Amino acid sequence: MQKLSYAQIRKQYLEYLVSKGHFEIPSAPLVPENDPTLLFVNSGMFPLVPYLLGQVHPSGTRLTDSQRCLRTEDLEEVGDVSHCTTFEMLGNWSLNDYFKDEAIGITVGLLVDVFGFDINNIYGSVFEGNDDAPQDSKSIKVWQRLFKERGIDAKVGKGERIQEYGKKKCWWELEAGGPCGPCSEIFYDTGKEACGKDCNVNCDCGKYIELGNNVFMEYLKKDGKYTPLGRHNVDFGGGLDRWALISQEVESIFDTDIYSPIYEKVKSLSKNDLVKSQRIITDHIKAATWIITDGVVPGRTAQGYILRRLIRRSVRHARLLGIEGVFTRQIGEIAIKQFAPVHPLLNQKKDEILRILEEEELKFNQTLDKGLREFEKIFGDLKDQSFTNENGETFTLYETYGFPLEMTLEELNNRGVKFDDQAAKQKHQEAYEKHQDKSRQATKGMFKGGLADTSEMSTKYHTANHLLLAALYEVLGSHIFQKGSNITPERLRLDFPNDTKLTPEQIKQIEDLVNQKISEALPVTWEQMSKTEALKLVKYASFVEKYADVVKVYTIGNKVTPFSVEICGGPHVENTSTLGKFKIVKEEAVASGIRRIKAVFE
Ligand code: ALA
Repeated sequence: MQKLSYAQIRKQYLEYLVSKGHFEIPSAPLVPENDPTLLFVNSGMFPLVPYLLGQVHPSGTRLTDSQRCLRTEDLEEVGDVSHCTTFEMLGNWSLNDYFKDEAIGITVGLLVDVFGFDINNIYGSVFEGNDDAPQDSKSIKVWQRLFKERGIDAKVGKGERIQEYGKKKCWWELEAGGPCGPCSEIFYDTGKEACGKDCNVNCDCGKYIELGNNVFMEYLKKDGKYTPLGRHNVDFGGGLDRWALISQEVESIFDTDIYSPIYEKVKSLSKNDLVKSQRIITDHIKAATWIITDGVVPGRTAQGYILRRLIRRSVRHARLLGIEGVFTRQIGEIAIKQFAPVHPLLNQKKDEILRILEEEELKFNQTLDKGLREFEKIFGDLKDQSFTNENGETFTLYETYGFPLEMTLEELNNRGVKFDDQAAKQKHQEAYEKHQDKSRQATKGMFKGGLADTSEMSTKYHTANHLLLAALYEVLGSHIFQKGSNITPERLRLDFPNDTKLTPEQIKQIEDLVNQKISEALPVTWEQMSKTEALKLVKYASFVEKYADVVKVYTIGNKVTPFSVEICGGPHVENTSTLGKFKIVKEEAVASGIRRIKAVFE
């Protein structure tokens, strides 16, 4: 097998898909815009949901891309050979175009015939059927044909080339619902010893690595029920890092050329050789640079919380490794250099990224020092006694002061306190799970709104967002553009650059202008045009590089002297007269030079 760099794999993948009639679209940002239902884009399909539901995509019915993704659920797994938090998912879609035959054919054709992955190591999985949907017998036939064409007589069953699974493994849907269906994954046998007689392609012993997944979207999940979608879409996603791992014949994704420059730097700073800690820092600092690029700063909630956790975990593991002094900047610099060629914003925001990393690192160092003092208060009397962690004391210290379990146990050990390591960790875990249950209940609320929130109120706020941006531009000046936005059915939130706090007069002027445009009952219209044409019309486009070649442009007012022109996917109201009375309820700083406005309809 030819060894390919990850850049070659990405390039060849996209070229292959283009040769099969697909249009290459750019990666959407990691933080979903105008969608409060998901913290981070976790798969290539998420930004395409409106099109999978039937909206016409300006670039056609066959699309492909390499999408930046982040999976928070894998955060604790990082450190083994294949888990990471951020990765590029190579994706291809059929929007009611080709289906199972061509889809699995493309995947196998690419991996086996183009990349040279040995067919003898390839396995496929298919959906076994349940009350909601029948067995995927068509995919079985397709797999058998593809194997046969390559000299293998493939059977279905345990330990065979084609293995059947239920909903947990062979069905794909988003938690919030939406287009979904049975899926068929492709696996690679690494040649490692099987872990036992029940070892199978979905076993996590490391023998098999999942290379990609074709989801056949024929159903719509809404309120827990499945109905036919009325279309047959394909959603394929495969992890670039795993393909690189196989192609480059290395032990872990961290040894591929995706991570190795960062990983090597971490190793060179380490005093001891804890592989897991080194992998965690490599992964987490890389992820942090990507997240900061999309305008997130460390904080106590939502995306900011995840970012904070990633940086703080890195600092903690750096202490375990004996890394001295401030280090996140050094690792961050290499991560930026590594990914800037495909994600130019990293370079543009380099100073900001490195500053945020370093500030959070210094802050956490202070937290750790404070945690040590609290440790004294809670555990100070325990010297040479025994400790059971019965009430999850280690978790309290962690939850309230951010002081990590491993450090608490290490300190106890240093003071001659006797405890059963496993039992103490178990109690910590129980306290953590209790806490998780509570917060899961709380975040469930976030997902209730369903997918890309197109409720009537959100649509109204979305249009008001355009009016507000135009008003800011008019009142504050031409430095205005949208840094970030978040819309819920309750309010809108808009971030924009401005060096100073807005005066009460400016706020009033902006409010008045928006309300005037609402009372003028202006029409809201859209048309499709080329990106070049669109950029001539809009005064304040942000994230220009993320737009496709053909874009949708929304105009508020008449075409000759419009009040607002923006590149946007919509949806919007048809006339501003349907909006309520607009009121700015908050104006604050979110970062240096960045202001945030929250506004509602009274
Ligand atoms: N959306 C599918 C997945 O993430 C391709 O597996």
